[in-house]
Amino acid sequence: MTFVARRAFGRARAQPFSDAPLSALWERLSGRLGSESATMELKWMREEVRTRRSVASVTAITSPIRKREDMEWEVGELRKMVDRRLKGEPLQYILGSQPFGPITIKTRAPTLIPRPETEDWTIRLAALLEERFPVRGGGGVLRMLDLCTGTGCIPILISHLRSQAGGITAAYGVDISTKAVLLARENATDQSLTLSSGIASHDGDPEGECYGRFNRGHRTRNVIGAGATDGAQRSSFDVIRANIFQENFAQEVLSGMGLPFDVITSNPPYIPLDEYERLPNSVREWEDRRALLGDLPTHKSGGDSSNGRGLAFYHRIAEIVSTDGVLGANGVVALEVGHTQAEEVREILREVTGGVSATEVWKDPWAVPRVVVGYR
Ligand SMILES: C[S@@+](CC[C@H](N)C(=O)[O-])C[C@H]1O[C@@H](n2cnc3c(N)ncnc32)[C@H](O)[C@@H]1O
Repeated sequence: MTFVARRAFGRARAQPFSDAPLSALWERLSGRLGSESATMELKWMREEVRTRRSVASVTAITSPIRKREDMEWEVGELRKMVDRRLKGEPLQYILGSQPFGPITIKTRAPTLIPRPETEDWTIRLAALLEERFPVRGGGGVLRMLDLCTGTGCIPILISHLRSQAGGITAAYGVDISTKAVLLARENATDQSLTLSSGIASHDGDPEGECYGRFNRGHRTRNVIGAGATDGAQRSSFDVIRANIFQENFAQEVLSGMGLPFDVITSNPPYIPLDEYERLPNSVREWEDRRALLGDLPTHKSGGDSSNGRGLAFYHRIAEIVSTDGVLGANGVVALEVGHTQAEEVREILREVTGGVSATEVWKDPWAVPRVVVGYR
């Protein structure tokens, strides 16, 4: 997983800020990031502060006093952002969002920041799904499952791209982290989709975040689009908190979703423990360890052929995909993999019976084998 740079808008000139306070902030940032990155990041921070200001302010700023106050406020906010950045916090957490294809995904620590390689294959997958389940050919509602959904970026982008052609998606996301589930719900709502109340959780609320904020029911559904009152069918995204390793996952968690799925996606944790320990601090100290580490604690003790190679989730996902009735007749599976894992994951998918009959590997824009795609 590479660190994400926000999209650059043209080549940045060195020190483009004429105001003294901004110039001082730029000096501090460029000492750490270099002049080009400092220029771009400070511009993005200023854009974000101004957006927040314009959303918050109800009256136009007309008087010189208000203008000066506003500028002081802006510099104060920028100083806070620069301080956070200098402590190593990823820019996306400071800005609170990351572009992902044509949409913007909200980002908040410690939920994994969507990566450009994931964005790339998700767009490619949307095109493949359009060939296999064409909207205009009466493809009906595309049924999608995203395991380890994080911010929900993958199903939300697929839903968005299909909706451009008038298609409807019924997507489900599963994640073990309550913070990720809450964020995925926010992201879905941001895409003009509505949510019903409550978080579905299959083992209570061990992180203690749902209760009190939402209702106390365990199996209440959150269906984006369920709020439609005009009778029109809408795309939906049901986000469920569950552990994909729990016993009877398919029977207990997936059966409530109305099987089978046309497409199952996952960008699971896949970094082996020894690689995890060598990740940059900006990743290890800010992003959830559970979002990255592909080895389970039991694998440390050996006895499993995938021990220490970050493959635990793929074995489990292959079992889920091959469970009777989970993947539909024309179904597609797309799994993001680490830079050396594609062939092993392909083998894992091939080995389970009843899952997929053909597989292929897609490379990312940096020519790294990045996604294993399986076809029913
Ligand atoms: C690599 S992140 C991917 C997030 C998102 N799909 C993306 O591409 O940006 C993996 C996600 O898996 C979740 N996760 C880790 N262990 C899990 C488990 N046992 N069951 C369900 N989700 C899990 C983490 O909370 C994290 O959000």
